[in-house]
Amino acid sequence: MGRTAAGRVLSIGGLAAATTGGYLGRHLAYPLGAGTSHAEPVAHLAPLGWHDLCKASELPDGRAVRRRLGYLTLVVIREGTAVSALADQCAHLGGPLHQGRLETGDDGACIVCPWHGSAFRVTDGSVVHGPATARQPAFEVKVSETGMVQLRPRKPRPYPG
Ligand code: FES
Repeated sequence: MGRTAAGRVLSIGGLAAATTGGYLGRHLAYPLGAGTSHAEPVAHLAPLGWHDLCKASELPDGRAVRRRLGYLTLVVIREGTAVSALADQCAHLGGPLHQGRLETGDDGACIVCPWHGSAFRVTDGSVVHGPATARQPAFEVKVSETGMVQLRPRKPRPYPG
């Protein structure tokens, strides 16, 4: 009986906190796009295991090219004998990474999105600089003895990794 007023105050405070949190969360997620990824859902579209992509000799050296793997579109980069592959659709707002430019810096080789300039490390898809905040889905790549490029989705690492 004597705590009715305190209970009302606490419940109003709780309601205000939940409303404020919901408003801020909605504002961050939708208008600002914070923490969202527009990259293709690689884990759902790529079957398990290794997949043949193409011959390594068919990939130009030092240039990003687009290749298809089933339903997925990839950007594939060959630098000498090293081959890297990422999902082509940029995690920021879906730009075509295969049209981006390659840069090499202290963080290794990066692909820079042609739309807003996000840079992703080609070996693991991590964000070197934004505006993207989500990692670009990456693939483990190996070249077989016959020169066939084979790949499978890289297991996602916890953010920011
Ligand atoms: S779509 Fe790639 S940085 Fe915006």
